[in-house]
Amino acid sequence: MVNVAIIGVGTVGKSVADILEKNKKLISARAGKEINVVKGVVRDRRKKRDVSIPLTIDINEVLEDDSIDIVVELMGGVDEPFKVIKKALTKGKAVVTANKALLAYHRYDLQEIAGDIPIGYEASVAGGIPIINALKVGLSANQILSIKGIMNGTCNYMLTKMRDEGVSFDVILKEAQELGYAEADPTFDVGGFDAAHKLLILASIAYGIDAKPEDILIEGIEDINEYDMDFAKEFGYSIKLLAIAKKSDHSVELRVHPALVKNSQMIAKIDGVMNGISVIGDFVGETLYYGPGAGGDATASAVVADIVEIVRAGQSSPMLGFKKPHESQILKLLPAEEMESEYYIRMKVGDKSGVLADITKILANHDISIETILQRPAEDNDKAMLLCATHTCKEKQIKQAISEIEALDALEDKISMIRIED
Ligand code: NAP
Ligand code: HSE
Repeated sequence: MVNVAIIGVGTVGKSVADILEKNKKLISARAGKEINVVKGVVRDRRKKRDVSIPLTIDINEVLEDDSIDIVVELMGGVDEPFKVIKKALTKGKAVVTANKALLAYHRYDLQEIAGDIPIGYEASVAGGIPIINALKVGLSANQILSIKGIMNGTCNYMLTKMRDEGVSFDVILKEAQELGYAEADPTFDVGGFDAAHKLLILASIAYGIDAKPEDILIEGIEDINEYDMDFAKEFGYSIKLLAIAKKSDHSVELRVHPALVKNSQMIAKIDGVMNGISVIGDFVGETLYYGPGAGGDATASAVVADIVEIVRAGQSSPMLGFKKPHESQILKLLPAEEMESEYYIRMKVGDKSGVLADITKILANHDISIETILQRPAEDNDKAMLLCATHTCKEKQIKQAISEIEALDALEDKISMIRIED
């Protein structure tokens, strides 16, 4: 018999308890032992919750209990769960977590502290999709050339509704929160940080790279508006929040940002709360992973899979997949200004002669070639929206051009820029 405690019995924790109860016999058969949830830890005992496991508000009742074999951390946050997991590991307890924010900062610390004690974190990236296992085990023969994916269900849900139903940003964010998709602080979702946390975890398995969120380019979806959605529709694109890792000879670029993706691409067809990830390996070619990226049951499915694997096999491979250092671990992060893309920029301008000429001159001065330009009337009569797509250039070229265009008298607002991923 294996005893499990769940620290954090919220959206995901409750679903973990439910799955272990409902599929008990099947899970025991797969794991080879009976798995019992003996305790759940919460902050507020008075909250009404539909769970039958014994609850406590004292974490030490779990950490100091030698009969508990596996601690499942589902409380969220960074510092507090780090302390809790460290203590559980030093007590020899195996750990399962869905906490990508914690792993974005402390995955290498935890790997070191854990040693041979198992840590499962399948649920930390893309909810119910077994992408960690795919990268760590299934693709271990390959150099990973790129990872490109939709890794935040909340943003994908919101962008899909904004595109299909014209619903406003605030209304749809509230809905995503009610459905249990969003983080406790939803700015993690809409600001791109949650997707960045996930990308960093995958980049460690793929490349052994030890980067933190502060080291990489992260932009969210807060500035996307109906003009962008209309432009995307008119030119056959969808707007998606993408998390991208791309390897070149000596460097890796890691970035998270909204992107215009041609509707013919698979990734453009991934809608709602679904996540989708493309991984290209040098021998296998392109592989695709699709499934629910958020929500209690989907996430708990991955948490329980980790529990089953720990009971069945123990620590079958190092937490982040590398048994010893490899040259990929000295790959440099490509500085953001050196990254290349095509760009879409939205400019609100005074509708006067010469404005377009001034803008195109600045773009030409920075050797930026225009692919498409459109003018749309703005809400106020004497203003216009200029929507422009460029050919490929470096990030530093477009950023410099944008700052010069923003300095023109005719500019009414800050420029909004979206990268185009073909
Ligand atoms: P949640 O619904 O907010 O639940 C958090 C639970 O942790 C609550 O039961 C809360 O207690 C408890 N808790 C928080 N701080 C605590 C503390 N200091 N001591 C004891 N208990 C504490 O969060 P969730 O959505 O289940 O997410 C849990 C984790 O899974 C997070 O790391 C999240 O990033 C990750 N995750 C979530 C999803 C998802 O779709 N929701 C998907 C993938 C990963 P009270 O109930 O008393 O407040
Ligand atoms: N808030 C996250 C999302 C939960 O929306 O994808 C899953 O990690």
